[in-house]
Amino acid sequence: MKLNIAVLPGDGIGPEVTEQAVKALQAIGTEFNHTFTFKYADVGAVAIDKTGNPLPEETLDLCESTDAILFGSIGDPKYDNDPTAKIRPEQGLLRLRKTLGLFANIRPVKAYDKLLEQSPLKTNIIAGTDISIYRELTGGIYFGEKTLSEDGDTASDLCTYSRLEIERITHLAFKAAQLRKNKVTLVDKANVLESSRLWRKVVTEIGDEYPDVDLDFLFVDNAAMQLILNPNQFDVILTENMFGDIISDEASVIGGSIGLLASASIGDKYALFEPIHGSYPQAKGKGIANPIASILSAAMLLDHFELKEEADMIRKAVERSIELNITTPDLNQDNKQISTKLVGEFIEDFIHHPNDSNINYKNIHLGQSTII
Ligand code: IPM
Ligand code: MN
Repeated sequence: MKLNIAVLPGDGIGPEVTEQAVKALQAIGTEFNHTFTFKYADVGAVAIDKTGNPLPEETLDLCESTDAILFGSIGDPKYDNDPTAKIRPEQGLLRLRKTLGLFANIRPVKAYDKLLEQSPLKTNIIAGTDISIYRELTGGIYFGEKTLSEDGDTASDLCTYSRLEIERITHLAFKAAQLRKNKVTLVDKANVLESSRLWRKVVTEIGDEYPDVDLDFLFVDNAAMQLILNPNQFDVILTENMFGDIISDEASVIGGSIGLLASASIGDKYALFEPIHGSYPQAKGKGIANPIASILSAAMLLDHFELKEEADMIRKAVERSIELNITTPDLNQDNKQISTKLVGEFIEDFIHHPNDSNINYKNIHLGQSTII
């Protein structure tokens, strides 16, 4: 298969983790005879620095003319600490999502057996967790009208949803559940919000079209609690934009590190793949950022093009790196020396030589002097 992939490394740790995902994809291309071509463009704070625009026209053009987008992360403390900044890095990502119509954000959450101890939650509670969060990504309070009064003392953000916006992601969530454990949980705040009541109505109607899937409902406050009390009760979680943003960060605690959580943002025409973690500016350039979320996002990219064996190969490589403790310091109590790049090299090597002995991997890599 030939795929043109737009790579938008962005800010903070974005470039270093994305580089490892590109390496994994290149290795897959070589081993499975695919031609993946990577074309780079700026987004976020780096794009503001260069052009004054967090999503320059040429970046958007590139995204519209390629088959898929691999996204790093955006954000910079100089904007976070300045509430008056009119131009912000996040606008680049939000505009990209909206312009490309990436309405469904899929965030898998999994507890790896080897990492159960890494989570602050009790291992018997989180063991076996396997959740797929379907977060609506182009509506709700993120994109509603925003106002700030002239005196600067009153502000508002409107949360709007239309039936159509709810319907299209809901169908995807039910279809995903049919391939999993046949359960959809709608997370909303229907006891308070009109928009949530519309979600309940529309999702209930659509649920009738999927009689093999159980549908249940949770208010978001309760869902936040249930997620860490008993994550195994969930299969597919369907929710609106902001609730999905918040509960997916919360859910990442189950896996032991937010550095593990990948995502796919899908629309009718375009698809973007990005780790859910942010730009983690404190770690920038230090080689300590976990590249697994970005590498697993690359696996989701392959899934999207129905390259299942290839995607599984990446996931297998990631699992092996976790089993062998070839992981960055966020996951590794024993060895704080394993860098972003080393994890990426291990995964790349595994894809090329999946049958070599594990000991060899360890020796090859840990014997290198350029560990960091
Ligand atoms: C995410 C991020 C973004 C969001 C930010 C960077 C705008 O937190 O992808 O979860 O809130 O959607
Ligand atoms: Mn978020």
